[in-house]
Amino acid sequence: MATATIIDGKRYAARLRAAIAVQIAQLKADHSLTPGLAVVLVGDDPASQIYVRNKGLQAREAGMHSFEYRLPATATQAELLARIAELNQESAVNGILVQLPLPKQIDPEAVIAAIAVGKDVDGFHPLNAGLLAVGGTAMVPCTPLGCLMLLKDYAGPLAGQRAVVLGRSNIVGKPMAALLLREHCTVTLAHSRTRDLAEECRRADILVAAVGKAQMVKGDWIKPGATVIDVGINRIPTPDGKGRLAGDVDFASAVEVAGAITPVPGGVGPMTIACLLLNTLTATCRQQGIPAPDVRPAAE
Ligand code: GUN
Repeated sequence: MATATIIDGKRYAARLRAAIAVQIAQLKADHSLTPGLAVVLVGDDPASQIYVRNKGLQAREAGMHSFEYRLPATATQAELLARIAELNQESAVNGILVQLPLPKQIDPEAVIAAIAVGKDVDGFHPLNAGLLAVGGTAMVPCTPLGCLMLLKDYAGPLAGQRAVVLGRSNIVGKPMAALLLREHCTVTLAHSRTRDLAEECRRADILVAAVGKAQMVKGDWIKPGATVIDVGINRIPTPDGKGRLAGDVDFASAVEVAGAITPVPGGVGPMTIACLLLNTLTATCRQQGIPAPDVRPAAE
């Protein structure tokens, strides 16, 4: 009975953050520059508060400046846009992230479009999405960037591999498909209307699941030896009533078939914040006309 390699994203992300910290120290020594990340949180969603706190902590740990802005849940779109306009002008701020989701009265598309393209460390601005699609120098969304790094290390040479991406969101699915295409994979972007999803998945050498449905992808959907990246973070009930996190992949059955697989938690999740720090470093360098370093995880 084969058992997959379990991809330790938590450890990989810690190594990546260590490598980023080294580059930031270098940037300070050589250019007297300290990257600054501004995170804006509107309202008091508990999950968002935890994410924002972790982003600030990890940014400071890597040697960056971290600026946090909180607006009340009742804030207007105009108030948020005014804050973004200030941050766009602020030279100490190299990266801007507005935590999503936003309260109902605010249009997320208008907010994303208002962020200066070069400071858009989420890579959500339509110009960055377009640059990624046409092969330009874009800011790449953090979660797909983290998935790609793991794939480069665990899936062997990517060129020519059949990749299936499940889910067509602007945040994960579409940019993931664009990145895999850039790596010369043969890419299928599957979604809720795809006919015979299981059959599409069975053809995949690389399977990236980002649909938000707990344990949807079963072991018998997976090609033996495939590399499986699980982006899902879903809370499922447990007998003790506390619930636990589960991915979009049914880990217990998938681990028997896949060649390598990310767990949930501890897989893709920690890579997202590490890639946010990487994007902030990259944005800082580009703004200053300094070549952005090709950051690789520090050796174990
Ligand atoms: N909310 C959940 N994930 C993200 C993310 O990657 N970026 C932003 N801005 N908000 C989020």
